[in-house]
Amino acid sequence: MSRFALDPNPSPLEACERAALIQAPAFGTVFTDHMAQITWQAGGRGWHDHRIVPYGPLQLMPATSVLHYAQEVFEGLKAYRWEDGSIRTFRPAANAERFSRSARRLALPELPVEDFLDSLAALVKVDQAWVPAEPGTSLYLRPFMFASEPFIGVRAAHEVTYLVIASPVGAYFKGGLAPVSIWVDQTYHRAGPGGTGAAKCGGNYAASLVSQELAYAHGCEQVLFLDAATSTCLEELGGMNVALVMADGSVVTPPTSGTILEGVTRSSLLQLVRDRGLTVTERPVELAEALAGIKAGTVAEVFACGTAAVVTPVGRLAGEDFDLTVGDGRPGALTMSLRQELTDIQYGRGEDRHAWTHRLV
Ligand code: COI
Repeated sequence: MSRFALDPNPSPLEACERAALIQAPAFGTVFTDHMAQITWQAGGRGWHDHRIVPYGPLQLMPATSVLHYAQEVFEGLKAYRWEDGSIRTFRPAANAERFSRSARRLALPELPVEDFLDSLAALVKVDQAWVPAEPGTSLYLRPFMFASEPFIGVRAAHEVTYLVIASPVGAYFKGGLAPVSIWVDQTYHRAGPGGTGAAKCGGNYAASLVSQELAYAHGCEQVLFLDAATSTCLEELGGMNVALVMADGSVVTPPTSGTILEGVTRSSLLQLVRDRGLTVTERPVELAEALAGIKAGTVAEVFACGTAAVVTPVGRLAGEDFDLTVGDGRPGALTMSLRQELTDIQYGRGEDRHAWTHRLV
């Protein structure tokens, strides 16, 4: 029995309108009829009042702490419709654990893993008709918590709200699977040593936006950040991790040592690469080395990876004084075969050797 009390949406979308909306939605633009909610209060009350409520506007006082000091963390995962009629998600405990690590870094209360998992199942159960069935589509789940106390003194909030909203999605990038172009930001950094780079908090994404605008201005879809300490090594993209495929089939990616988000897709792909008997090396990668490798052909492929982006080939790397095509600019073979293998597991078409899938409905 779910601990989530259901307060049903009195006017859910008509089935035909919903069907039209979930066909090919632009990422993050359409939301389901409900959301999950849990409240936390300091002073012993802890997490309480587990509910599924209609998706809709929140009533917040202008003094609500998160609006001033950005005490907020979030997660991203997807629900997939399988051919057997079930709805599954992928490694949700890994997201729950990262959510706790992010919460600790932002002085927010940790949500028990069980509450995190139950909130996903309760929401997807009530909104299961929103999980699209078209190839490559899924229901993106966005759990988040924020300081909801109306207080503008600077301290950790005494009242926190946890919500999960859900959005039917297709490809993250407009071009679908077409290789993306990356702008390397040599001015701004996303995160520094001792900062919040490893946490999935809104502030990191806010800090990336000016660079993301620069990327767009240079005709690129994403920005790549360099490390703040030396400005020489690759870190991650604005919204996803990055990896290089060497000509010998080995994969090299920057280590998640505090300034880089510990991507669940990233770690899953590295495991799939190791399963193929190929070498994975997590080590600092200098921009100069990556550029020289792309020019010489020793770096054969570059890919971006994350829940939203899945595995997206990178076809071009540009910066103030360089503009290089990766390989022949077309999707790389290993990138695409890893994408196929991962999505086969996620959609129940391939063997789930590592028990990564988790039934929600
Ligand atoms: C995700 O991949 O789930 C993220 O949270 C990143 C964001 C660009 C959508």
